[in-house]
Amino acid sequence: MKQKVLITRQIFPEIVAEVGNRFEVEHNDQDTPWPPEELARRLAGKAGAMTTVMDKFDEPILARSPGLKVIANIAVGYNNIDVPACTKRGIRVTNTPGVLDDTTADLAWSLLMAVARRIAEADAYVRRGDWKIAFGVQYFLGQDIHHATLGIIGMGRIGQAIARRAAGFDMRVIYNNRSRLAESEEKRLNATWVERDRLLAEADFVVVMAPYSPATHHLIGAAEIAKMKPTAILVNSARGGIVDDAALVEALKAKRIAGAGLDVFEGEPKLNPDYAKLTNVVLTPHIGSASRATRMTMCRTAAANMTAVLEGRDPRNPVN
Ligand code: DGY
Repeated sequence: MKQKVLITRQIFPEIVAEVGNRFEVEHNDQDTPWPPEELARRLAGKAGAMTTVMDKFDEPILARSPGLKVIANIAVGYNNIDVPACTKRGIRVTNTPGVLDDTTADLAWSLLMAVARRIAEADAYVRRGDWKIAFGVQYFLGQDIHHATLGIIGMGRIGQAIARRAAGFDMRVIYNNRSRLAESEEKRLNATWVERDRLLAEADFVVVMAPYSPATHHLIGAAEIAKMKPTAILVNSARGGIVDDAALVEALKAKRIAGAGLDVFEGEPKLNPDYAKLTNVVLTPHIGSASRATRMTMCRTAAANMTAVLEGRDPRNPVN
């Protein structure tokens, strides 16, 4: 008899079919996350689950899922899962590192460039029909990206992919990370480790690319924003909660910094309503890894991790 598994969100039909070759699959094909009660109910009798960052796996849910052996998150981040509680219960947790680095770095750069060159504002201007005179010397003056200083907070795989892209813009790259990269890596990336305060003071573009944890909660708040240049642009495509949204909104309103590009928010999809009123921000709905190829690979990776555990092998991407 096939083991039973749950896929908690709409993914790609071909991957559901592949999983179905090995397991009996229950699949949420509605692309709306199940509320906790429904998730708990559907987990009953399941040995594995393929999940997204929207599915909260805390102790009460785990306590109601005694047969669960593996939670395969379709994400590199896993702050939706209480990993120590899973470990205690003998549930393996896996993620999808590596396969989304370049796509996520591309999105961070898209935000950086869109804010620096005021792309969203200019696009809205053209669409509104406000463009009456073909050329204006002072139309939508933005900021140069080339030869500017890029500051990266969090220099893991994605941070490094962001740094590599800076070479094409002849930028100076500074970074801050808990642990410093090896000298050879720093050379390869042309990146210099600096204290966080120095990074905030010197960077023209501050890109946050750290994982979310209690230690990184509000890593960028009012005090940190106050250290940034008034011309600086902040980009967060890592996790909501790393930036204090209320503090950032106030800083943007007061023009304490020039702008922000944001893909993630505290309590998303709820948005601090003031963000939408500001013209110096570009907002995207948590689409860092959203290319078709990468999302397919993430789903396949999660499926392979889940399969490995359920077939008694070690998963390629264990979290615990
Ligand atoms: C990740 O992989 O962690 C992305 O944020 C998608 O959830």
